[in-house]
This record gives sequence, C-alpha cells and structure tokens, in this order.
Amino acid sequence: MTQAFSKVTAIRGMNDALPGNGARWEQLEEAVRVWLAGYGYRNMRTPILEHTRLFTRGIGEVTDIVEKEMYSFTDSLNGESLTMRPEFTAGMVRAAIEHNLLYDRPQRVYAIGPVFRHERPQRGRYRQFHQIDVEALGLSGPDIDAELIIMAARLWKALGITDVHLEINSLGQGEERAAHRAALIAHLEAHKDVLDEDGLRRMYTNPLRVLDTKNPAMQAMADAAPKLFDFLGDVSRAHFAGVCERLDDAGVSYRLNPRMVRGLDYYNLTVFEWVTDKLGAQATVCGGGRYDGLIELLGGKPAPAVGFAIGMERLMDLWGQYQPETPKPECTVYFVHQGDVAQRRAAILAEGLRDVGVSAVVHAGSGSFKSQFKRADTSGAQIAVILGDDELASGVASVKMLRGEPSSDALSQQQVPIDQLVTFLKDKVN
Ligand code: HAM
Repeated sequence: MTQAFSKVTAIRGMNDALPGNGARWEQLEEAVRVWLAGYGYRNMRTPILEHTRLFTRGIGEVTDIVEKEMYSFTDSLNGESLTMRPEFTAGMVRAAIEHNLLYDRPQRVYAIGPVFRHERPQRGRYRQFHQIDVEALGLSGPDIDAELIIMAARLWKALGITDVHLEINSLGQGEERAAHRAALIAHLEAHKDVLDEDGLRRMYTNPLRVLDTKNPAMQAMADAAPKLFDFLGDVSRAHFAGVCERLDDAGVSYRLNPRMVRGLDYYNLTVFEWVTDKLGAQATVCGGGRYDGLIELLGGKPAPAVGFAIGMERLMDLWGQYQPETPKPECTVYFVHQGDVAQRRAAILAEGLRDVGVSAVVHAGSGSFKSQFKRADTSGAQIAVILGDDELASGVASVKMLRGEPSSDALSQQQVPIDQLVTFLKDKVN
C-alpha cells in the first residue's frame, strides 16, 4: 500500500508567479530593458551562490543582513561556507574585479534576478524577492549620482507611477562619519536617562540606529542629536551640492533626510531612497548610493562606484495601482479541429504561421466544436481557424474573427483556401 504523500507547498516568503502574472512580469522586464538601454547600461549575470565571506566583508559584519538574514550553508562536499546572494552589488563588484572589467574604462552595468533574505514575510517583504540592480563602476563625479537618480525618475514616469518621493542624504567619508559617531555617542551618554532598552544596547554598536527610534520619549533627544551633515568637510559638501544642482536642473524634487540609514555598510557620500505611502509599511521601492571603497575592500584596484536596486515585487504592486493588468492573449490564432487528419493538418499549418511570426495554438486533444470555441475565446486569440471533415474535403478552412473586426456575422466568418491560409492570416494580423 502506498503511503499518503503530504502536499508540498512553497517555502514561506517565496512566491510563485502564475501564468497571467508571469506575463505582467515579462511586460515590466521589457519596459525595464528599454529604459536601461536608453542610458547605455549593459546586462550582467552573476551566480546566485557566492562565498559567504564576500557578503560578510562587502555588506558588513554588523548589519541586519549579515547578522540574521542570510541563507548560508556549508557545502557538504568541500566544507565551504556558501550564501545565496542577499543583494547584487557585492557579486557584481567581485565579477568586475575577477574579470578586470575596469581595466580600460568604466562600466555601466545592470542585473535582474532573485535575491534572498530571511526576513519576516509581509506585504512587500519576502524571503525570495527580485531586484533590478544598476551599477556605474569606475565613475566618481556627482554627475553620475544624479544621472542614476534621474534615471529612476524616468522609469516611474514610463510606468505611469506618480506617488514616489526621493529622499537623499550624504554620509560623507569615513573620517567624517567617525567624528560624527564620537559626538553622537557623547550625546547619547549625556541623555542615558531617556534611552530605552534597545537604545542602551545599540548606543555603542550602532548609535545611528538609536536615532531611528519610534519611542516618543526619545524624540526630543533624537531631534537634538548632532547631525552627520554638520560634520561634512568641503569636498563632501561640494559633491552633495553637485548632485542637488543636477537634480534641480532635471526638475527632480527631493527631500534631505539627514537620518537616512541604509542597511549596508559600504556607502559613502550620496545615499538615496525612493519612497511611497502606497505600499503599506514597506515604503521603499528603490535604494542606493555611492560606494567608493567597496572595490578596494574586495581586493580590486581602488575605483569609485555608485548604484541602486529596485525591489521588483514592490514596483509591481505599485505599478498595478496605476496601470491595472490587461490580460495578454495566449496566441493570435487558435485552431479548432475535428478528427485525426484535421488535427495533423492544423499542426502543420500552425508551424507555417510561426515561420512568418504569427503565434498559434492548436487545440490539444479532442472535444466538441463548442467546447473548443470556448477555449479559443478564453485564450484571447484574435482569430479561430476551423478544420473539420467538410473543410478538408473542400480544401477550404473557415476563419472566424474573434476580436477586433466588425462583428456582423457575414464579415466575421470567411472561407479561405487551405493552401493560402498562412498568407491570408499573416496579412490579416499585420
Ligand atoms: P536595499 O535597500 O537593501 O539595497 O534593497 C533595495 C530594494 O530591494 C529595496 O529598496 C526594496 O525595494 C527591495 N527589498 C529589500 N528587501 C526586500 C524584501 N525582503 N522583500 C522585497 N523587497 C525587498 C541593496 O540591496 C543595494 N545592493 C542597492 C545598491 C546597489 N546600492 C548600490 N548599488
């Protein structure tokens, strides 16, 4: 006797895209590729699995991602610690170093694909999600930071999305952050009495995070805390001003958010996030910034870089609120047939249609004409072709317009010689 097999479901926080929705993903990816090509970005594909140390070093040991969100495991065959990428940047930089991509010129590159973080799933927050990752490697000026931000604004516009807002900040350079950190810790020490348990715990390990508190009793202390911006030197300030001027030139509005803390340690100078209030708690659609030290940190010749990533599930959710899904037809021509000979003839005719670039589906199996027509209709096809004994005997197929033509019966069904069918249909759909 066979044992009942308990149903296997998807892993929590990891989603299936079903056929209708899959078409929508493709539509988004298509728009994204056109947009990226418009700025000269070229596609790269890096492995999902990387050595764990790439991320611990690249993203930073004391970050939520590295401390508690990575899918890491030991390869049982050789004992190596591997991690499923929680983001693209570290892997893109590794590949650029490994293949000497920056040898003779900077590179504008992008990647699209799944990334993995063990977070608590909720709307807009998943354990497998997808990013559109865009990186400008080897370029240092504020012009490129601004270009990336303006570029994101263009994508929102292309998708008809209006309610996303830009927040920017400058994290300055390492020494500036260190000076700020010391002042911040002194401030926290002086206000120890208002710190809650989390605040006390993080005060020395991650003092910036303490300011991110929702605790009302700590707001006044947080508001009065020294601002990183005030610790920036002339060069950092000039870079930031350069970015802002170019955003002004392009008419992209922004809000300076001096408390923006990105979740990855590699950033310096410009950081930014595009946020919306249309996605519930997970408000950030896109985040990025400059990471001039990462290439060197990962063993490359020092080179500046800047980039961002868009969360595709969040973008899909948002896009759906502006541009509802329109079902995509499965094919242009649907063959309805009766009998073995007609079915085989339909298969050959359908191949002929595909040769000339017209998509076609031949009804699979048998079934009454009525049920086959029903299926033809739900497929979204523009045209149904009918092949039965009568049609084969007379060498003439019936062609029925299902959509997009005057619906008077006389016009909507026509007799077409089978040997001219492919040409006839090709002209009809073009
Ligand atoms: P990030 O801010 O960690 O940056 O992620 C980028 C975007 O991915 C977020 O703004 C959000 O839209 C989406 N996202 C993050 N976590 C989740 C999740 N659990 N579920 C669904 N969507 C999520 C980075 O990953 C950097 N590598 C960006 C970058 C590229 N910086 C420079 N270059």
